[in-house]
Order: sequence, then C-alpha cells, then structure tokens
Amino acid sequence: MQITRKRTLTFALSTVLTLGLVGCASTPAEETSSGSSGSGGSGTSETATGTVEVFSWWTGGGEEAGLNALVEVFNSEYPNIEFVNAAVAGGAGTNARAVLATRLEANDPPDSFQGHAGAELMDYITAGQLEDLSFLYDEQGWAAVMPETLLPLITVDGAIYSVPVNIHRANVMWANPSVLSANGVSIPNSWDEFFVAAEKLEAAGIIPLALGEQWTQLHLFETVLLGELGTDAYNGLWDGSTDWGSSAVGDALATFKKVLSYTNTDAASLSWQDATQLVINGDAAFNIMGDWAEGFLRVDNGLVEQEGYTWAPAPGTAGTFQFLSDSFTLPKGAPDRDSAIAWLTVAGSAAGQDAFNVQKGSIPARNDADKSIYPPYLQSAMDDWGSNLVAGSLTHGVTASNAWKAEIDTALGLFLVDGDVAAFQSALVAAAG
Ligand code: GAL
Repeated sequence: MQITRKRTLTFALSTVLTLGLVGCASTPAEETSSGSSGSGGSGTSETATGTVEVFSWWTGGGEEAGLNALVEVFNSEYPNIEFVNAAVAGGAGTNARAVLATRLEANDPPDSFQGHAGAELMDYITAGQLEDLSFLYDEQGWAAVMPETLLPLITVDGAIYSVPVNIHRANVMWANPSVLSANGVSIPNSWDEFFVAAEKLEAAGIIPLALGEQWTQLHLFETVLLGELGTDAYNGLWDGSTDWGSSAVGDALATFKKVLSYTNTDAASLSWQDATQLVINGDAAFNIMGDWAEGFLRVDNGLVEQEGYTWAPAPGTAGTFQFLSDSFTLPKGAPDRDSAIAWLTVAGSAAGQDAFNVQKGSIPARNDADKSIYPPYLQSAMDDWGSNLVAGSLTHGVTASNAWKAEIDTALGLFLVDGDVAAFQSALVAAAG
C-alpha cells in the first residue's frame, strides 16, 4: 500500500519538479463562448435549465466572497440554472472532506466538488470517482492557458480530471506594520532572525507568531521544513529522495519546536481567521498563512497593503513559491451533469477566474488574466509564480495523499502534546514508509 501511495506522488511531483521553474508564459487560446454547455449539454446558456449543487468549504471571511463572485458570473451566464451552495464550514476543508467522503461512499455526490490539484485529486481519480474532463479542455481550449506546472497534477494517462480556478501561495508571513515599527523589528528572513525579533516582541507583551487550530500548525510546519531544508530537499521529502530520518530533518523539527514556543497558547481553539485577527488587532506581530489571508485582510477587513498589513515569503523561503490549487471536478453520477459542466465552464473561464481571484486573494490558474485588475500583492504573486522555484503544499493536498497526510497529522498531534522531537521524527519516517 505504501508503495502504491508513493508511486502516485512520485508520478505527479517529479513531473512538476523537473520543470524546476514555473513557466507561465504561453499563448492565450481564444476563449470560446463560456455559454457552451459541453459534451452532453443542451442548448445555449440562456435556455439551459437545472440545478447545480457545488461542494466546497468556502464559508467564512476570506473564502465566501470569492465563491460569491464566481456564482455571480455563473448566474449571469446561466440565469436558469439554480446554484445550490453545499459548502461545509471549516478552514482547509478539514470538516468538508469528511462529509464529502461519506457522500461519495453512499453514491450521493454533489454535482461538482472542490479538490486540490496534486496528490489529493489523485486519490479521487484512483478511486474512480471522477469523470475525465478532456472533452471540455478541447472545447474551451484550456490546455493552452493552464500552466504546465499544474496540468500534470490533474492528469492521468492523458485524461484531465479537474478545472483549476486558482493558484494560492502557502509560504507567506503576514505582519502588522505598526507593531513592527513600534518595536523596531522587520519581517525576518530566517527563523534565526525570527527568534531575535520574537524575544523583543515578547518582552513588549506582543505574541510573536499568531497560530490557530491544528491544520494551521501543519501549515506552519511545512513552511518551516521548506525554510530550513531548502527547496530541493523539501521537494525530495515527497518523492523519496530526501531522508525523513536525516539530521537535517531532525534540526528542522527542533527549529519547529522552538517556533511553537513563541505562539499563543490558545491556538487549538482559533480558526485561521481568528489567528489573522490577532495580527490585525496588533496583539500579535506575525502569522504564517496562505494568501487567502490577503482576501481576509483586504476584502473582509478593508485593510490597505503596507498600512494595515505587510508580508514577505515565510522565513528562509524567499525565491520559492510553495503553491496549491483549488480545482473543481465532475463526480461520476453527478445528479445534474449538464449543469455541472456549465459550472465548470464558468470556473475555467477568464471572466470567472478574474471575478473569483480578486476576492479570494489568489491568482488565476489561467495565464491570460487581466493583471491590471489585481491588487499589488496579487500582482507580485503573479510575478513570483512566473519566476520562483516551485514547491508543493502538504496541508493543501499537493504533495501527499490523504492517507499519508493523515499519518503526518497524527504524528504532529502527538508532538504538540509531548514535544518529543525524536519520537516525532520516527513517526514521520514511518509515515513515509
Ligand atoms: C485551502 C484552500 C483555500 C482556502 C484555505 C483555507 O485548503 O485551498 O482555498 O480555502 O484552505 O480554508
């Protein structure tokens, strides 16, 4: 079982990693009419009728606005298809994925569900739960506008299984500029620099690093691994070329333990938005979170970059874009397949992606977006995605199957209780099997 799991990952990731750099540039294909209803569809977008139940976990601040913007485009393209929002609350889909698994098991799929490109999607593909969407790619000319970094993560044997709506960056450190200047600290370039700043901040009664519930701790963990090991060695963790039992990994775990000692004690009871709020309020200086936090800061809280918030790549990760991608699928047995195809058509369209991503705090998966409509942070994310080294996110489904991730998460849960670095490392070695 372990071998199968690793092989799947090796397939997906080695393709990405051999690319080394992200090559975003390609010739934009002509956008065909987003009103086309695809293979098996009927009529034009105006006359198409039906119901589309879409499953995601975008309910809270920084999440919902993006979904709503995409639904607005959908409603204007397909005024007679009813959109049913089946979102299940909970950051990173921790609750949603469990509900979805139960539904898929019971042959009760929604019409479309959100899944992360990469190993997470491979799980659904391997389980035979998804339809091949190559026909829609052909019809819409999407192969030419989706990044070559992404396509291998959603493709098996030439069949393409999802429609990516965005690229998120995981390795971002957010900060409160007023707290930084009042305490004479800057965003650290390394974890060693962070420890110096953290001492100063703690002495001033400020939480150095805001943290939330366990998945945000897993998210922090992956960025510490990336920052401490470097991009090649981090990527090697997922294809077997980096030894989880090495002293370099042991040192990174020790660094992670020290980082945790500078976080709030009530982390387990806070959502990611709560943790970001600590930074907004000035109770904390820093927070590591994916750039959906940018949507929360800018869209939900009305803050302006460099005034209300500032950011930098997580310590030790400058020059690397640790990414994830939200994508939508067509489950086998979708109750209203034609309406699902209509939804996917909008999700993959330039209009849909531009509406969604400006609100969500992500950059479009398509590489022909209208850059001028994006705020400064997202413009810089587009530049970095086009020029940085690439690493995948563990927490958000790129690098490890759900089973492997669950084992790592269990090991992390124990570590958070006992703080035993050696036991944590042994459990990680065992999980990598
Ligand atoms: C990620 C997802 C993002 C964002 C985040 C927080 O897994 O890809 O779009 O929703 O969780 O919930």
